[in-house]
Amino acid sequence: MTDKRVLLIIGGGISAYKSLLLIRLLAKRNIKTQAILTKAGREFVTELSVGSLTGEKVFTDLFSLSDEAEMGHIELSRSADLVVVVPATADLMAKAANGLANDLASTTLLATDKRVMYVPAMNVRMWEHPAVKRNVQTLRNDGALFVDPEEGEMACGEFGFGRMAEPETIADKIETALKDVTTLDGLKGGGLAGKHVLITAGPTREPIDPVRYLSNCSSGKQGYAIAKACAALGAKVSLVSGPVCLDAPTGIETINIESAREMLDACESNLPCDVFISVAAVADWRPTKMVTTKIKKNGDAIAPLALEENPDILKTICVHKKRPALVVGFAAETNDVIAHAQAKLVKKSCDWIVANDVSGDVMGGDNNTMIVISKNDVDTWPTLTKTQCAQRLAEKIAHHFLEN
Ligand code: CTP
Repeated sequence: MTDKRVLLIIGGGISAYKSLLLIRLLAKRNIKTQAILTKAGREFVTELSVGSLTGEKVFTDLFSLSDEAEMGHIELSRSADLVVVVPATADLMAKAANGLANDLASTTLLATDKRVMYVPAMNVRMWEHPAVKRNVQTLRNDGALFVDPEEGEMACGEFGFGRMAEPETIADKIETALKDVTTLDGLKGGGLAGKHVLITAGPTREPIDPVRYLSNCSSGKQGYAIAKACAALGAKVSLVSGPVCLDAPTGIETINIESAREMLDACESNLPCDVFISVAAVADWRPTKMVTTKIKKNGDAIAPLALEENPDILKTICVHKKRPALVVGFAAETNDVIAHAQAKLVKKSCDWIVANDVSGDVMGGDNNTMIVISKNDVDTWPTLTKTQCAQRLAEKIAHHFLEN
């Protein structure tokens, strides 16, 4: 791997000295570094030592006119392939999670169009504080990468999680992240530009009477994240959504529906498209008849609810005369995940099926473990945030179109 550049943001913490070792390790791996040293960072390492190791100018102040003349902070934020915050202090992460921009480091984090990796280091009580946890989760949801702190004795004398990862570990993670960046180079300018992607998300509601319905606990988070990730790669996205508590994503045409039959109608009227991604947890059955007035209790046992099967939207689209070039289904399974998903791939005639084990807290949660299955391949991914899963899936789809 050559010509890769990393922008290091060195925050203020005792472990800032490890960033100096990191710069040397990265240089040995042919990875160039440039650094921003925060005001607090300068209390722990000097501009001179950082600059001597990177061999480049060290940036320290947002309002330095000479810095702006040589390289504006916007340009600086985009000049590298990856931005690494090391050590990532509670303060830097809080600013980034909340979009604050009152110094060079935070402005850069807000202006960058590159992936950001945080390497946190702090006292164990701070690392476990709900506010820090919240900020870390927000950043993960925004797609940031993390090299989590390790357990051990800290400079403050306490013991626990919070000690910054060792430079070797950080260098390995940076190298892996840069390989991902390399594979994405072919997608610059939007790997899905010119493609129309139709996505279903969330649950459906099948009315029993005017105030009751059958549904499920899908939050829509995964489908919405995929819609955003495809749009970020330049696709025109149509999102057919069941009732969820999420804001309609900006710049994405969102069609709100309630029942499975409405979802099917909305999908069919959005054909043709290039890709159909069926993320919705469609209710399998609906009451045969919706009672038009509220059903009253009368002390008797309730009459059994007669149900009939809903249309299978994914299958309908797969055999449609306007079938999209790529159809991706989801398989929510609680056991024998791969075998069930492979059977579903064949039964529904889709091109890929994304299997996920929903026996844990996937439905409604922020993380997911995906296995992307096609006729000849089983691609197992680690547990990632739903945003990261979405980005990876959108990238896989973009690569598919590049290769076919
Ligand atoms: N699906 C659909 N229409 C339905 C049911 C499911 O489009 N009426 C889609 C889902 O969006 C998903 C895939 O089919 O992409 C598989 O959904 P899943 O709930 O895992 O499976 P089912 O088809 O419902 O089968 P089963 O409940 O027997 O596992």
